[in-house]
Order: sequence, then C-alpha cells, then structure tokens
Amino acid sequence: MTEAPVAALSVDQRLAVGGTLQEILVDTIDLGLQAKHLHWNLRGPMFHGLHLLLDDLAAAAAEAGDTLAERCLALGVAADGRISALAGTHLPPPPEGRISDQDAADLAVARLHVYSEVARSRLGDLGLRDPVSQELVNGVLMRMEKLLWMFEAHRPEV
Ligand SMILES: [Fe+2]
Repeated sequence: MTEAPVAALSVDQRLAVGGTLQEILVDTIDLGLQAKHLHWNLRGPMFHGLHLLLDDLAAAAAEAGDTLAERCLALGVAADGRISALAGTHLPPPPEGRISDQDAADLAVARLHVYSEVARSRLGDLGLRDPVSQELVNGVLMRMEKLLWMFEAHRPEV
C-alpha cells in the first residue's frame, strides 16, 4: 500500500471539499473586511460597544479564514486569498462613508445572516464528503452565529 501524501480522501473528494471551503473562505475574508469598514466609519451613541464588537468580528473572521485556508492545504488544494478571488463573495457590499450605529448593527446582522445561510447550505455536502471539514465549518458557524446574536441585541426590541 502506498502512503498518501495528503488526507485519505480521493482526489475528486478533496477537490470538491477544497472548492467548498474556498467558497466559504471568500465570504469569510469579505466579512472581516466589512467588519473593519464599519468599525472605522461607525458613529452614534452605541459607538463604543459596536466599535469593539466589530473588531471581535474582524478577529473571528481572520482566525476562521486562516483555519479554512489551511484546511484546503491539508487537503492538497491551494487557497486563493487574492483580491480577485473576493469577486465571488455572497455578501452585498457595505455603503461608502460614515454610518450610524443603528445602520451598522442592521448591516452586520444582515451580512452575518447571509454568511450563515450560505455556509449552512454547504454542510450537508461537506458531511457526506468529509466530516472533518464539516466539523471545522460547524465551529466557524458557532462563533459567527454567536456574533450575529450580539449584533442583533444592539437593535431595538421588535
Ligand atoms: Fe481599531
């Protein structure tokens, strides 16, 4: 039996899983960039709390992106972190310029909702092909969905 140089999955499975992780990586990088954009341009009475929470989101995205990219490499698939790759993001762009605290909280909730929706829609396929990668994405979603709740808690009661 020959020793496989990478995780014990077929080439087809590794390529498919790597493609899915790459797709989530792009959304994750964009989420982190949007968090910093809001962190800088925010204004209003909730500035302090949201400024810090947006930095938590940027840090969570940076860490998640690193984990997703390195999982691609562990599967023998190159990760693409170039600006050109970000064109594939599922997240709508944030508006230019200063933004009120309320609008920033709404925007963070909306972006995290899309992020969660897209990543969750890939879990079934990931689980069939590679439960280890699925577990990784579960962990990322656990953290991002907690942040979604924290942004949601900044909005007025409905
Ligand atoms: Fe800062």
